[in-house]
Amino acid sequence: LQALVARTRPDVRVGAAAALGPLSADADYARQLIGEFGAITPENAMKPQSLSPLPGVYTFEEADALLDVAESRGMAVHGHTIAFTEAMPGWMQDLPTGSAEDRRASADALLDYVTTVVTHFRGRLASLDVVNEPFDVDQGTDLQQNVWYRTFGPDYPVVVSRAVHDADPDVAQFINENGADVPGPRQDALLDLALRTNELGGHIAGVGLQAHVYDLGTDAISVEDLTDTLDTFGAAGLQVRISENDVTDAEGTDAQAEQYVAVLTTCLRSPTCVAYTTWGVDDRYDWFVDEDGDLQQGHDLLFDDGDPTPALEAVRRA
Ligand code: XIL
Repeated sequence: LQALVARTRPDVRVGAAAALGPLSADADYARQLIGEFGAITPENAMKPQSLSPLPGVYTFEEADALLDVAESRGMAVHGHTIAFTEAMPGWMQDLPTGSAEDRRASADALLDYVTTVVTHFRGRLASLDVVNEPFDVDQGTDLQQNVWYRTFGPDYPVVVSRAVHDADPDVAQFINENGADVPGPRQDALLDLALRTNELGGHIAGVGLQAHVYDLGTDAISVEDLTDTLDTFGAAGLQVRISENDVTDAEGTDAQAEQYVAVLTTCLRSPTCVAYTTWGVDDRYDWFVDEDGDLQQGHDLLFDDGDPTPALEAVRRA
């Protein structure tokens, strides 16, 4: 897919979220990832809970090993992620922020984390999600009041962005969010946040639109809506990455394929769209927790049990 895309858009990387486990243990997975994609996003290995389980303790081994593989194959790496409510280790999440003195200490700890991590990976990341899923999980438009917010206030993305820039001025910085793929209040909030962050001295190159399509009835992304979206961000001087696309096959593989084709081809028609990434490689490793709390296998990626899905065949033809 990367090779096909490069014919018309040599500037666009086609990537996948990747994990070291299957990459080292499963030859099918390694072949799919390396054969089809030109970039990786570490699925979990660069989240704060993976990188710093305890204060001042850093575990870079898994992320480094994943980056070694990517680099040996000429694949770009998109880093994921610095400030992310859901994926913090306990020590970070629970830093006291009640008093001014507490906030001075938590600011030191958080900035030390950013500087250590970004310095460690300097030169190896093309781009990085500096803030991930900043808005309320209920699809609202208010910032989640996590430890970053409680420490630095509502403009914490400025602080994160500047600290990242100080440690690695060359990495392209993104704010990544779900549910902002089509025009609406959540997309407006994301646009405002990116612009405001830059007005206040941040270094945001653009936004990541996750494009998780778990239900074609409610989250389908139309060509028109995505085109408008890309136009909006482009007019504001921001880039867009389609950062975590996956599409359910619950409504059939034709409908799934059609949605994949719509998102990828619309991205490729817009100069604003600089990357296209699927959230995983093979359904074999794709699990989610259903409404009853049970673990279910996902059926929403471009490979299934070692083989290309009809959706992959369709995007290759498109
Ligand atoms: C998910 C991973 O895919 C899972 O393996 C993990 O258990 C939870 O996180 N949005 C994001 C990603 O930005 O970091 C999430 O990744 C999926 C939703």
